[in-house]
Amino acid sequence: MEMKELIRNAFTERFGTPEGEFFASAGRINLIGEHTDYNEGFVFPGAIDKVIMAEIRPNGTDRVRVFSIDIDEYCEFGLREEDAPEQGWARYIFGVCREIIKRGGKVGGFDTVFAGNVPLGAGLSSSAALESCFAFALNELFNEGKIDKFELAKIGQSTEHNYCGVNCGIMDQFASVFGKKGSLIRLDCRDLSYEYFPFAPEHHRLVLIDSRVKHELKDSPYNKRRESCERVAKSLGVPSLRDVSLAELNAVKVTLSDEDYRRAKYVIEERDRVLTVCAALERGDYDEVGKMMYATHEGLSKDYEVSCEELDFLADTAKELGVTGSRIMGGGFGGCTINLVENDLYDKFVTEAVARFKQKYGHEPKVYDVIISDGARRVE
Ligand code: GLA
Repeated sequence: MEMKELIRNAFTERFGTPEGEFFASAGRINLIGEHTDYNEGFVFPGAIDKVIMAEIRPNGTDRVRVFSIDIDEYCEFGLREEDAPEQGWARYIFGVCREIIKRGGKVGGFDTVFAGNVPLGAGLSSSAALESCFAFALNELFNEGKIDKFELAKIGQSTEHNYCGVNCGIMDQFASVFGKKGSLIRLDCRDLSYEYFPFAPEHHRLVLIDSRVKHELKDSPYNKRRESCERVAKSLGVPSLRDVSLAELNAVKVTLSDEDYRRAKYVIEERDRVLTVCAALERGDYDEVGKMMYATHEGLSKDYEVSCEELDFLADTAKELGVTGSRIMGGGFGGCTINLVENDLYDKFVTEAVARFKQKYGHEPKVYDVIISDGARRVE
């Protein structure tokens, strides 16, 4: 059954008529620029064809009643700060409501059923898709669409910070809200200026290999990585690592812990790689793009230390098979590699990578073709 129909049926069963309205938002990929967003650097994401979709109907009360089809759980909560629900998944929706209210926006009670096909914990930002879907919808339903898209992305990000324990940057929510079919987005996380980059390589395609090693960013080393970066920036007397050159970092190396030094070095190198990739894309130089992706993987694995054995294995396998570029994608600690593969090599790579991985780790990785799609929207 199609997702919309599934939601429709569950909604009527639980909440009766009349029908609600449908909204959706997307997961994201990121070509390059990992862990640069909270350092005021550049990122290069795009929304994908995997979404969270919700049917929503204001109910005239001050209560939110929500059913998650995928988790098969129901939750009900009020809209005051002290009404925060216990269930982790419901806190994303509660957080979005609260963040809108805190900004002076309106949110009344509503009934909703949602479902999705963004794989959880795969580094594809299912949580940003959920936040953006509700931020977009509640803006339409209660605020006449007056909250601008930048603020919608920030509402999702603040939800992570204040209700979900992850001190994330803005990339995921921005990509989920601003995503556009066929285009990647080069975003400057310092001032949120952005540019759409049509992405339709003639001889290559992007494919994700999901190790199915789960990650949980909350209470995870993710926040510790961010603290390292902030410590180094502070000791250099600058607001963020965006402004620091490698030479400047090296000049204070002896005053930093080895760990903080390596974290900062990775971020500074990654900031520059995003710009190199943009220039390479403009000249159609996919070999250069791929080289940068491998360099990112190396940095994320050795200096930033957010990879894991399975993902190193996948990136190494890609390299050995002659794939143009491959790297761990997203926050890390599990999830997917993103691979830039020549069309002619695609079948061989996917078959071999899956077989070799299964032989070594005993389970099959999942394979997702990347289709760059629209972000938050109303579904007719
Ligand atoms: C997670 C965070 C993002 C970003 C990436 C790493 O997805 O939510 O803000 O920091 O990790 O690039």
